Amino acid sequence: MTSRGIELLWPGKKDGSELSGGSREALVTVERHGDAASENLLIHGDNLLAMQALVPTHEGAIDLVTIDPPFATNLRYFAQARVGNGELEREAYRDPGGHGMADYLSAMQPRLRLMQRLLAPEGKLFLHCDWRANALLRLLLDEIFGAECFRNEIVWRRAPNLGRQAASRQLGRVVDTIFVYSKRPGSLFRGEPPLKTTAYALDRNGDPKGARWDELAQAYFTTAPRGDYTDKSIAELRAKNRVYDSGAGKVYIKYFLRQDDAGRWVKDQPVDTLWDDYDVRPLRHRPKAEEMGYDTQKPEGLLERIIGWATKPGDLVADFYAGSGTALSVAQKMGRRWLGSDVGRPAIDIIRRRLLTSPVPCSFALATVGAVRPEPAGAATVEVTLHREATGLRIELTRVSGAPELRQQTPALAWADAIESWMVDWHAEAVFAPSFVAHRDASGTVPQTTPTRPSGAHGRRAKVVVHTVYGETAERVIELESTL
Ligand SMILES: C[S@@+](CC[C@H](N)C(=O)[O-])C[C@H]1O[C@@H](n2cnc3c(N)ncnc32)[C@H](O)[C@@H]1O
Repeated sequence: MTSRGIELLWPGKKDGSELSGGSREALVTVERHGDAASENLLIHGDNLLAMQALVPTHEGAIDLVTIDPPFATNLRYFAQARVGNGELEREAYRDPGGHGMADYLSAMQPRLRLMQRLLAPEGKLFLHCDWRANALLRLLLDEIFGAECFRNEIVWRRAPNLGRQAASRQLGRVVDTIFVYSKRPGSLFRGEPPLKTTAYALDRNGDPKGARWDELAQAYFTTAPRGDYTDKSIAELRAKNRVYDSGAGKVYIKYFLRQDDAGRWVKDQPVDTLWDDYDVRPLRHRPKAEEMGYDTQKPEGLLERIIGWATKPGDLVADFYAGSGTALSVAQKMGRRWLGSDVGRPAIDIIRRRLLTSPVPCSFALATVGAVRPEPAGAATVEVTLHREATGLRIELTRVSGAPELRQQTPALAWADAIESWMVDWHAEAVFAPSFVAHRDASGTVPQTTPTRPSGAHGRRAKVVVHTVYGETAERVIELESTL
């Protein structure tokens, strides 16, 4: 028993503090995109090693950790990629649960300790899970953060109650749990309290049903009884044009509607812990453009609400189980700094594509920690042709060959169809900093040549890096000066 009195025990439980200390393995920066001064960092590797490596530089510095770790399903999850004329599915990750929860808890415990350590004094943790592990994780979080730091248990509707769910032998399991803890009890949420937006049905005149027009505010409003508002509060609300006096002499509170960007009359209401509204609707009901082909991807609306509530612009947001990079992409769009990690190569490939093809410019470094390369070094090779033109240089890919052992399980593809992305750094120096990046597009194709690089706008050598859909990396350094 700990001094807190109640403790979750499981076979093989250790203190966890022996793993939540500082750096063991160093971060190795392998790629840099955009502004070299950017602190945004994506780490490819086990998040235990990633967080240990961050302790010396980031202890007490992260404003929000938002994680969506494996749920203990014991299932395999996939990433889908459009390649050539078809679709390729590769394993994204295996969810480790299922063989008893002891191993799952032993993995979560030191990681949650590290997150608690990395959080700033006002920092918040949002942990997304479901019915499989939520009871256990709640107790573990109480132990690590202290029960007094529990803030909310949010219930998010992940899916409609349809199909197999609805027909199962118990009620449809259609909600997930998001636990919210703060590093210190009672600390304020740094952002804006979340509001949910509900569109109003219109009557046959095109006015919002049951709403009245307010000349002064030039807006529609609905009303609710005064409830337990004191006379003093009513006077304050009256001064703000928030009180409606009925003909029968009763006092009501006015709730104004507003017109959204689409011209709909909508009502903004404070959010409680039941999140089932339009703004956080499941991914399948959101625009197709948001889908990255990654099983277990979460909708951006959900992360917008979390990040907008827990942080201010400029704050530091971390997701150590980044998956397709939803939290990182939203943090970027909302003007926050970010840190992310994932152990899976498909996740890293998708995050790179998501961030670099977003209309919002993004600068970040990619680092590795521990042993992450799935193929033996040098197993994949790339051949190129350097074209000298009147206005400059151009690099064309002519062949990529891969590691046969990685390709056994998957359909054989033409070499050009197997390219996930390729990049060129025209000034190859210590850290690979490509100015040309090409990704497989929605039709599954990648351009095979760079634009012409003006003479003089390159260094002595260029470096080409190719990632394939099989998870291989092929690299080639090209001497430029000797060929001029
Ligand atoms: C449920 S998914 C996250 C999905 C993400 N929220 C999104 O919107 O795409 C969990 C992710 O955790 C990663 N993961 C599992 N164990 C990890 C570990 N020890 N270190 C880093 N990443 C890990 C998996 O590769 C997977 O991408």
